[in-house]
Amino acid sequence: MPPPVTGKQRAARIPLDYYKKSDLLGRWKTVLGWAALLAPSLWLGVGFGMSGQGDFHASRGPVSSVHQIWDASCSTCHTNFTPISSNAFQVPLILGDAKDSSNKCRTCHAGPDHFKGQPDDRTCASCHREHRGPDASLISLQDSDCTQCHRNIKAHGAKEFNIDVTHFAKSAHPEFRSIKTDPGKLKFNHQQHLRAGQPKIGKDGQTGGALKFLKDLPKQHQERYRSQQANKADDAPVQLQCASCHQLDSGDFGVTSERAKEFPFGITGNRSGGSYMQPILYENQCQACHPLTLDHKVAGDKKSDEFAVPHRLQPKEIHDLLENFFTARFARGQAGFLEKKVVRPLPGKLPGLLDRTIGTEITKEVRLAENSLYQAKLGCANCHYFDGKNAVEPIKMGEVPDLYVTPTNVPSVWYKHAKFNHTAHRAVNCKDCHANAETSTSASAVMIPNMDNCVKCHAPKAGHVGGARHNCTECHQYHHGEQSLQGVGAARRNPGKLHKIDDFLLIK
Ligand code: HEC
Ligand code: HEC
Ligand code: HEC
Ligand code: HEC
Ligand code: HEC
Ligand code: HEC
Ligand code: HEC
Ligand code: HEC
Ligand code: HEC
Ligand code: HEC
Repeated sequence: MPPPVTGKQRAARIPLDYYKKSDLLGRWKTVLGWAALLAPSLWLGVGFGMSGQGDFHASRGPVSSVHQIWDASCSTCHTNFTPISSNAFQVPLILGDAKDSSNKCRTCHAGPDHFKGQPDDRTCASCHREHRGPDASLISLQDSDCTQCHRNIKAHGAKEFNIDVTHFAKSAHPEFRSIKTDPGKLKFNHQQHLRAGQPKIGKDGQTGGALKFLKDLPKQHQERYRSQQANKADDAPVQLQCASCHQLDSGDFGVTSERAKEFPFGITGNRSGGSYMQPILYENQCQACHPLTLDHKVAGDKKSDEFAVPHRLQPKEIHDLLENFFTARFARGQAGFLEKKVVRPLPGKLPGLLDRTIGTEITKEVRLAENSLYQAKLGCANCHYFDGKNAVEPIKMGEVPDLYVTPTNVPSVWYKHAKFNHTAHRAVNCKDCHANAETSTSASAVMIPNMDNCVKCHAPKAGHVGGARHNCTECHQYHHGEQSLQGVGAARRNPGKLHKIDDFLLIK
């Protein structure tokens, strides 16, 4: 058993001045302590001293390619000691207000409001995220950027569009409101026009009436219609296709610039996007079979040239033209009429050239022509409503018709609050989306598809359905203000002030 260690012996092991000298461990502690303080300061100092504004030690990732010019000049977008995004943690009393950053963006972009009277509570940077590399998109956004408001839309000041939306599916997104009714005021029957020869179709499905044959068409229109159908013989009934009347606004369906000349009013060349169909124009789509010609034989006039009533005039304007036309005809019928000397009338008196009976005859002819234009199914009334009404009172002798053609108002864009693009869907048959186009007998029937159609493809992939993108920005704009289709168009992109090139490069 070893002898016990006394307290004295133990005390002798510790030098009395131990606290005055540093040992090896202590020295290392001090050195490392200082090093730990100095190294980062040096690192920070050198980093900030070099060009690149701190990129050396805190890579924030390059900005997107559109903003590369200003990649190194942070203050183009940032305000010192101020968060840039309203999504960031904010201490507004100490740091600056994140909303200021939006004004920096506005030096170059308008970034118009999302809806009229939108409160200023979202910074641009809360949706347009930077520093994700030159190839990252600034505008391809998650649904959550939209549903942060749209899942509880009333809390965000919605008045008209107050239905909550969480994702694109039947249960979570409203039915399309713009296609409830057809605002158009043009008479038209798709079913009849898509049958060969456009026969009248009775309630029992029986067809009747005279057929329209290729040879009936005026010469200048014949080739265009002939080229569209399989049977090209002169006595073949005219067979129309969707493309006979509906052309994409990119001049599609194989209509070359050469063929485009066959359309009396021309069609746009391959310049626009091809999203929507070009508007229906009487001259392009209807005139070949529905000419507006009058041929009233007039006593004495041997020439029987037809009078083509110019289209798009109002009955009052046509009245004057008809008077001139029949006056000229009667004039031609009177032997030597044109050679008669014009006697300069005394002031206040008209030249007594036309005697009253001819005057009455002219008035009669004008009235006859007007009644056939506005009353009979063959004239303007075939396609138009007058003052919103279908039937027109007979026009009385000597009366200038007080009628107005109701604006046709056929929409060329149906979804006022969403985008659509026919070219993106070109591989799909027209009739699969416009199912009733071949059977519709009235122009007031809406043939634009509803959600049931879209969700067949625009949904998450499940078995053999779905798979096409279905995020909000696929179909919607954000910066549309009151015009939901316009988006940030060229005009609406304008910043408040224009820059000189050198200033533009140096915006800080
Ligand atoms: C083109 C505009 C633009 C330029 C130039 C730019 N940034 Fe940014 N920066 C942004 C945007 C937008 C965000 C927000 C990104 C997000 O929330 O995902 C951001 C975020 C940041 C953040 C995160 C903190 C915060 O405020 O949200 C840092 C740090 C940062 N930037 C540093 C820099 C530095 C340093 C530079 C210059 C070398 C720079 N940025 C240049 C647009 C820019
Ligand atoms: C110094 C001028 C300038 C500033 C400041 C600026 N941008 Fe840009 N930005 C541009 C230019 C130039 C383009 C490319 C032309 C275009 O698409 O309009 C562009 C493009 C964009 C685009 C379109 C990207 C695309 O893929 O189409 C978005 C979104 C955008 N900027 C957002 C912002 C945001 C958000 C800010 C503020 C954080 C900002 N910009 C600040 C000049 C600027
Ligand atoms: C709620 C999200 C959101 C906010 C906030 C937001 N944007 Fe946008 N921005 C979008 C979306 C989505 C698009 C693409 C669709 C479109 O054009 O509307 C876009 C497009 C843009 C474009 C490109 C337009 C184009 O057609 O190429 C610019 C520039 C732009 N935004 C600037 C801004 C500016 C400036 C602000 C702030 C004043 C801002 N944005 C705020 C969502 C947002
Ligand atoms: C700050 C909240 C907020 C955000 C973020 C937001 N919205 Fe809205 N949005 C509204 C409000 C509020 C209305 C309704 C306005 C009204 O009723 O007058 C609205 C209306 C709409 C409408 C219908 C009206 C129209 O003019 O087209 C669509 C579509 C729409 N938003 C799509 C989007 C999309 C897509 C996004 C994401 C890029 C988005 N919203 C982000 C608040 C927001
Ligand atoms: C003789 C010309 C003509 C032909 C051929 C024709 N259309 Fe139309 N289409 C019109 C006219 C005129 C309108 C506008 C009046 C209306 O709303 O019916 C119209 C309107 C439409 C509309 C939108 C209006 C609505 O009420 O929904 C769709 C969709 C449409 N047509 C699809 C088709 C399809 C699909 C075909 C081929 C199967 C076709 N059309 C063939 C002349 C034609
Ligand atoms: C290929 C020849 C052809 C073309 C092109 C054509 N139609 Fe017709 N349309 C006919 C024929 C044939 C009839 C039946 C006989 C008649 O009423 O003259 C008819 C009848 C009509 C009717 C009366 C329908 C009814 O219920 O009695 C209207 C309205 C009409 N067409 C409008 C139009 C419009 C609008 C266009 C241009 C978008 C057009 N048509 C283009 C051949 C055509
Ligand atoms: C075969 C059908 C058809 C006949 C017949 C017809 N129109 Fe039209 N009309 C149209 C179509 C289609 C439009 C719309 C597109 C356009 O302007 O060409 C139109 C447009 C108009 C407009 C412009 C309306 C607006 O939207 O503001 C006027 C005015 C007009 N027609 C007058 C007449 C008159 C007057 C007659 C008779 C002399 C007549 N039309 C005969 C088919 C017809
Ligand atoms: C994937 C479905 C789909 C297919 C395929 C399709 N359409 Fe459409 N069509 C639509 C939708 C949706 C609209 C409404 C878009 C809008 O005006 O906002 C529309 C609108 C129209 C209109 C009204 C005017 C316009 O452009 O908005 C006409 C006419 C039309 N389509 C004809 C056709 C013809 C002809 C074809 C075949 C070449 C066709 N569509 C193929 C979905 C489709
Ligand atoms: C047969 C499948 C199918 C149907 C039905 C369909 N789409 Fe699409 N749509 C597509 C595909 C595929 C694309 C292109 C790829 C993508 O965006 O994922 C597309 C693209 C789009 C685009 C973007 C076009 C662009 O390039 O800007 C819009 C907007 C759109 N669809 C709206 C609709 C609407 C609205 C409906 C319903 C009326 C509809 N689609 C019905 C398959 C379909
Ligand atoms: C495949 C295309 C498509 C997608 C994806 C889509 N929408 Fe829509 N949305 C539409 C169409 C089409 C309308 C009807 C527009 C009209 O009637 O003018 C509409 C209407 C709306 C409206 C107006 C509602 C009302 O009260 O009438 C809002 C808000 C809206 N969408 C928000 C969203 C949001 C948020 C998302 C993403 C979660 C989204 N949409 C995704 C096509 C789409």
